[in-house]
Amino acid sequence: KILILDFGSQYTQLIARAVREANVYCEIIPYHKKVDFDPSLKGIILSGSPFSVNDPKAPEVDVKALHQQLPVLGVCYGAQLTAKQFGGQVAKSNKREYGRALMHKQTDDVLLKDVMEQSQVWMSHSDSVLEMPAGFNVLATTDSIPYAAFKKNGEANPLYCVQFHPEVYHSVEGKKIIRNFLVNICGCQQSWTPAHFITDTVNALKQQIGNRKVIMALSGGVDSTVAATLIHKAIGNNLYGIFVDNGVLRKNEFEQVLDTYKTIGLNVKGVNAKQLFYDELKGKTDPEAKRKTIGRLFIEVFQAEAKTFEGVELLGQGTIYPDVIESVSVHGPSVTIKSHHNVGGLPDIMHLELVEPLRYLFKDEVRRVGHELGIPADLLNRHPFPGPGLAIRILGEITPDKVALLQEADHRYVQGLKEHKLYDQVWQAGAILLPVKSVGVMGDERTYEFTVALRAVTSVDGMTADWAHLPYEFLAHISTDIINNVRGINRVVYDISSKPPATIEWE
Ligand code: XMP
Repeated sequence: KILILDFGSQYTQLIARAVREANVYCEIIPYHKKVDFDPSLKGIILSGSPFSVNDPKAPEVDVKALHQQLPVLGVCYGAQLTAKQFGGQVAKSNKREYGRALMHKQTDDVLLKDVMEQSQVWMSHSDSVLEMPAGFNVLATTDSIPYAAFKKNGEANPLYCVQFHPEVYHSVEGKKIIRNFLVNICGCQQSWTPAHFITDTVNALKQQIGNRKVIMALSGGVDSTVAATLIHKAIGNNLYGIFVDNGVLRKNEFEQVLDTYKTIGLNVKGVNAKQLFYDELKGKTDPEAKRKTIGRLFIEVFQAEAKTFEGVELLGQGTIYPDVIESVSVHGPSVTIKSHHNVGGLPDIMHLELVEPLRYLFKDEVRRVGHELGIPADLLNRHPFPGPGLAIRILGEITPDKVALLQEADHRYVQGLKEHKLYDQVWQAGAILLPVKSVGVMGDERTYEFTVALRAVTSVDGMTADWAHLPYEFLAHISTDIINNVRGINRVVYDISSKPPATIEWE
């Protein structure tokens, strides 16, 4: 295992993902947490930070103490902190370095093994190491900085520093450098694979659960499906899944998802609660009121179902690692914890012991595990879909008619994306029904009908997103397809707003 000490960099999670990609397990902890030197721990990585090491409030750890125990790699701020603590000089340099730089290798150290003599790296720092501390050796330079990579000499536990960000995509050989650190320097075994994860997790689940019963809400999404499949592997039909039709799912989604669950062998009950949701949503136009109503009803339906399953003690959840990482706030090193309520706050209300088999996985790892478990690819590669479903894509009041209208338009849009091989190129896509009627003409007839907006975005995590530059030909095709086939819609527009300042959903 590798530990990543987080100093609040926007790239910390990318370090973790690069480590995991090398099939090495790692965890992120805030820099001020005590490091537990258990025997499985093989090395430590110090992240970047928005702070300057010379800031009076700069976050600190005792690098010397750490590297007396284990190999350490300092990245950017981590490198500057190390240089400063060992007596080097770190200051704002005349040349701030942002973006691409060419790294020149100076020696053949194992950290840079198989890295080209000149390799593109990504820089993002305004402070620089101006003077290396005594006892350190330079491994690489760039045109503007003399110490792009350096190392402390003659130590049992190597101490390495890089001023660039090996974890980001634009550091072309960055992953290789990280792998060199993990494998050649820390001696990590590259055994963090989906197959291993499944074996270990199923064993751990058997231990945790024994012959008790687990109840779980399934949503048709990747996380809940993979989590349920793992639990099912451990305890069979002592897992009782519930999938609620809230009336605002996509076209045919309820039937299709239940079918897939059957194929996987999961014990899932489909609950048709459409009418209840429609009745309670009637007259509600405020987005937050709609969200709250759906969240509340979901819990009511789920609880009623849970009662029919006797003696249940545990609640399964598809929580993943980004939901639980404690993040270091950049506004002063105070700590905020992101709380996650996947399905309307079930954990708080049910008072059941939680079972969260994906708690330490990133999204791409969940997909890999799902693939290894034999879950069909079309389910694993599904776009995210919000809990409140089409309710937040029908602006204004929700009626069954509007739902049917939007389901049909959305279905044609998503099918079109799949047929044109565009579905996997966008992160999320959907249609939005606007509360706007406009005049059109069809044949000799005047129409006065609704407008649909199409949304498609590219993103990594949904926190920021760009509108997808879908080909005009495709947009033209879909517009015609929807207007000709969905009675009640006579106009289609495409949303070209990015997040920020817009959001992905319209409500
Ligand atoms: P926004 O609209 O905030 O969406 O840019 C970011 C991501 O979150 C999803 N989303 C939700 N998911 N309940 C959910 O489970 C919600 O209330 C909700 N609102 C937005 C959205 O689909 C996108 O993937």
